Amino acid sequence: MRTKVILDVDTGIDDALAIAFLLGKKEVDVIGITTCFGNVTVQTATENTLNLLHLLGRDDIKVYPGADRPWSGREWIIGEHLHRIHGYNGIGNVELDRSLNEAEKITAWQFMAESARRYGDELMLICVGPLTNLANAIRLDKEAIASCQRITLMDGALTVSGNISPYAEANVYNDSEAAEYVLSSGIDVNMIGLDVTLQTIVTDRELGFWQTLNTLKSRKLFEIAAYYYFNEFKEVKGGALHDPLAVEAAVNPEIADDWLRINLTVDQEGVTRGRIHTTKELMSREHKNVSYALNVDADTFIKRFADTVSEVLK
Ligand code: RIB
Ligand code: CA
Repeated sequence: MRTKVILDVDTGIDDALAIAFLLGKKEVDVIGITTCFGNVTVQTATENTLNLLHLLGRDDIKVYPGADRPWSGREWIIGEHLHRIHGYNGIGNVELDRSLNEAEKITAWQFMAESARRYGDELMLICVGPLTNLANAIRLDKEAIASCQRITLMDGALTVSGNISPYAEANVYNDSEAAEYVLSSGIDVNMIGLDVTLQTIVTDRELGFWQTLNTLKSRKLFEIAAYYYFNEFKEVKGGALHDPLAVEAAVNPEIADDWLRINLTVDQEGVTRGRIHTTKELMSREHKNVSYALNVDADTFIKRFADTVSEVLK
């Protein structure tokens, strides 16, 4: 039986690429996509996800909207830096046909918890936005979430600098309280942070051949990807495949060949807010609930990503 997967996104260009990549993974069954604020508002993330699924011919996959703001309650406002990375609409200013589907009525975390109760270790969760939805799901039914086969997060910067501040990676920073709740819950998670995603930079060299497929899907996804690694605001051309790498690591954890077993905590205040680190007390605990990827086979992954997505785009 194929493992069931829920992907939690804040779509976002690399989220869009992760969705396309996941749809190409024949070994899993995508039972739903949940959305969160982050790169865009939760409303835009939901719309982008529905429209992308429509473009890719997967209107059968349901979309469950989640949190519109972090646990702190502060309103989520999209900063100019996000427009530079993801465009004004989150998908590189590319217009997609509107899906006729509507978002589901139950929340992202209700869907996660219900699915975990139903499928247990036949279910994997992959979270590539702020951890608000996952934290809410754990609060709702910790036992069910803990029973999932694997939970893979695109989060953190442990041995490298952050991307939203010198200390913090964006998904952790965007809801540092939810991130702390997840990491201190004791539930096992696999983390794909900037330590490895920054080893997976792509440009036209790797993805240019999508254009030659010459379908509506390939033209649109290529344009979206191209904005991400090449736009007027970027000094250095190239984009990191953050979220697609989390998808790969969920399905094939061996793509990362060095997993550190560790317990982590998240700074909540001051300039280091969103920084992940460990402490003597956490190190002394016998059970380590985080496996943190420190190295990846980037060449194998990038080729697999480009080829798998190209099949989806034909
Ligand atoms: O730091 C990179 C992460 O933040 C990615 O998930 C990107 O999509 C944004 O959510
Ligand atoms: Ca994301």
